Amino acid sequence: MKIAIINGPNLNLLGVRETAVYGSVSFEKYLITLREIFPSIDLHYFQSNIEGEIVSAIQQHGFSSAGIVLNPAAYTHTSIAIGDAVAAVEAPVIEVHISNIFSREEFRKHSFVSASSKAVVTGMGLKGYEAAIRFLVDAVKG
Ligand code: DQA
Repeated sequence: MKIAIINGPNLNLLGVRETAVYGSVSFEKYLITLREIFPSIDLHYFQSNIEGEIVSAIQQHGFSSAGIVLNPAAYTHTSIAIGDAVAAVEAPVIEVHISNIFSREEFRKHSFVSASSKAVVTGMGLKGYEAAIRFLVDAVKG
């Protein structure tokens, strides 16, 4: 079973960036943990700081994977294009945020992605990715 994880802008700086908000573990390191937790899942990882590349990745994986775990980062709050891409694909998309976007600034409370997402996970730290993958795996098992 293939599941794609797509991370948006500045998430390449996890572990270094605003550690009080996002923690001190890099995503590359956490990905090793995820692969240990889900050894039988084909986990594809893509990160980009560029909006169009994220749209293309959603299109690329959205018809060939069991699901997408998507953290659009700041594009969550600005990108109609990413919201449209989520609506366009067949695969269920789980929107994940490391921090609780509802307990932060007002501008983070709106998402252009949530309405077309199957579910939203926010505020669970990196464990939100594990929860999203587990949900997708269970959904396929039925
Ligand atoms: C984020 C929350 C966004 O508001 C922010 O712009 C990010 C990360 C999160 O994972 O908590 O870059 O998506």
